[in-house]
Amino acid sequence: MKIVGKRKNELLSDGALSEDVMGDESVRPMYLKDYIGQDNARENLKVFIEAANKREEPLEHILLYGSAGLGKTTLAAIIARETGRRFRVTSGPAIERPIDLVITLKTLSEGDVLFIDEIHRLRRPIEEILYSAMEDFMLDRVINKGIGSRPVRIPIPKFTLIGATTRSGNLSSPLRARFGIMLPLSFYSEEQLKEIIVRSAGILRVRITEEAAFEIAVRSRGTPRIANRLLRRARDFADVENDGFIDIQTADYALSCLEIDRCGLDMVDRNILTALAVNFKGRPVGLGTLAASVSEEPENIEEVYEPYLLKMGFIEKTNKGRMATSAAYDYLSLKKPET
Ligand code: ADE
Repeated sequence: MKIVGKRKNELLSDGALSEDVMGDESVRPMYLKDYIGQDNARENLKVFIEAANKREEPLEHILLYGSAGLGKTTLAAIIARETGRRFRVTSGPAIERPIDLVITLKTLSEGDVLFIDEIHRLRRPIEEILYSAMEDFMLDRVINKGIGSRPVRIPIPKFTLIGATTRSGNLSSPLRARFGIMLPLSFYSEEQLKEIIVRSAGILRVRITEEAAFEIAVRSRGTPRIANRLLRRARDFADVENDGFIDIQTADYALSCLEIDRCGLDMVDRNILTALAVNFKGRPVGLGTLAASVSEEPENIEEVYEPYLLKMGFIEKTNKGRMATSAAYDYLSLKKPET
């Protein structure tokens, strides 16, 4: 197995990286050839990057959308690297005032890749600044507010915006229309996650069996960030209890200590399903009510838990709210109430 040392953090970041993202950093692929999964997005990107490089032009603006942890930031960093451009990182919540975005745009250099994570969280007046910036590389500003005010157009360097969102449906039409390339990212297969775990184990110099890697993959909710986190936790158990070697017993033991079951569900998932199936008796429940009943933020329910529970077919979303499905009752070994 090839062993590679820890890599340098090359991201320029305006915001603090979460522990999860930091822990993930050394194993993130740097080039498209090392990126596993998302075959369609990867193959298309290869063509767009090669074409832009051939023409010596910046890429058109790109929208990456998909659930948390599927590799949007990783892919954006790869795009910048593969096109030989500087990578600038910020996020919707970090851009609090219009002036924050104006400064970011004015300090770009020609050809930079600007990555805005959670772009759906930009407030509307701030988002509107992006329209002319993306389309004409101009900032439309008003000088001298009040009497004597007048609009001005300030040129900014040509740049590529890469927007990432967990909810493309939350983007306004004018913003969405300004992206030339839209790349949806989907959940990974168990085989792809296994490949990612084996690759990461090589980088982290951890010994792991194929069987253990597959076990972790199955319980990683289709998400590489989770797969890499579970690998690091399994390594902790292996270091303490098995001479650093992750075999199937160690992997299984670590995952059960973390209370992650064979479907990849954790305590919060089970609380959500129990609330829907038992407390609310299978009736539709609004997001706020559900969140309060399991003591979680509504945003966390929507962005972290719900996508995978929907994918597994354990819940369904109706216009009246979320409901537990028959599969959820089976999972909980409960009988579904008659309706
Ligand atoms: N680590 C995290 N995501 C990855 C991916 N898609 N391919 C390879 N390694 C990864």
